[in-house]
Amino acid sequence: MLRAREAVRTLPTYHPPLAGRQGLRLDFNENTVGCSPRVLDCLRSLNLEQFAKYPEREPVEAKIADFIGVAASELLLTNGVDEAIHLLCQTYLDPGDEALIVVPTYSMYRIYAMAAGAQVVAVPLGDQFHFCTETVCDRITDRTRLIAIANPNNRTGTIATPQDLRRIATSAPQAAVLIDEAYFEFYGQTMLGAHRDFPNIFLTRTFSKAYGMAGLRVGVLVGNAEQMRSLRRVSSPYNVNAAALACLPQAIADQTYIQQYVKEVLDARSTLERALEANSIPFWPSHANFVLARIGASAADSAAFVQQMRARGILVRDRSADPGCEGCVRITLGPKAHTAKLLKALQETLHELRLLQGASRS
Ligand SMILES: Cc1ncc(COP(=O)(O)O)c(C=O)c1O
Repeated sequence: MLRAREAVRTLPTYHPPLAGRQGLRLDFNENTVGCSPRVLDCLRSLNLEQFAKYPEREPVEAKIADFIGVAASELLLTNGVDEAIHLLCQTYLDPGDEALIVVPTYSMYRIYAMAAGAQVVAVPLGDQFHFCTETVCDRITDRTRLIAIANPNNRTGTIATPQDLRRIATSAPQAAVLIDEAYFEFYGQTMLGAHRDFPNIFLTRTFSKAYGMAGLRVGVLVGNAEQMRSLRRVSSPYNVNAAALACLPQAIADQTYIQQYVKEVLDARSTLERALEANSIPFWPSHANFVLARIGASAADSAAFVQQMRARGILVRDRSADPGCEGCVRITLGPKAHTAKLLKALQETLHELRLLQGASRS
């Protein structure tokens, strides 16, 4: 009988709750309004020939490299950052190697590393989800071949400093060190350029978040030119589809749209953080387009909150099952109109849940 490899048979299934997402989507850190109108116009103008031909990635890759400020040989366009993570695992991990992740964090690091047969070493973030370089460095061994760090980190919105990241890259020259900058536009700081000093550093960016193109699936992987030659060997030449490639030049050309969107999200972040503070709800100050908040002490509290918000038309994500996140929810931020709806639903939900708690205690 045909059987999947051992590493695949033991892989946990990751099935994000995408079904039935009716309402304001504050659950997946997506752009809540969508892409620039220039991207939409471009999509509408595509012709049959563009879909009939295999997509040619290189000319667009050169434009994106220019936009980001690296050489084309240092950059690969990917089918979302997810594919970049997959390619790194396929390129650098042998069965039995160690992949180091700092948890709670983005799920796909673990999944792709495990699928490659690697052993995942999960190092917990420190107190208050502080990034603890010392602890990470202590767990590096000769077998560590991948270290994946989301910066800012998706679950917590917290960051590692450039010094932390450089120290890790220096401590593990035998490992690919991924600095995943999926939320770069909301943070504004980057390690781009470090791949020239550290040939083991890789950086990723995405068009899924600020650019509002998650459905088109485009990511960017940057690294040392020689290392990138190996990654290109593993990647399909047609990994990014024709519609996405056609739209990318329009997407990067409309920086006014991106700046306005990011500004509104940052305003929303301060507004939400103030509202949480006013309601005595603990949260972690975020550097991304979402905030993680501890709504209650238990998974039942966060589940009740998510359900009450959904009843008011707002989707938020229950993160209670993540390490150190019991009772936590993650709330994505959007522009002004969405923030007003979020705050209204938040106040009503907290009021209702407190009333319910009061009723069950009495
Ligand atoms: C840290 C991080 N990396 C990568 C991704 C996936 O990005 P993409 O849509 O480009 O595959 C996400 C999506 O949530 C993320 O949070």
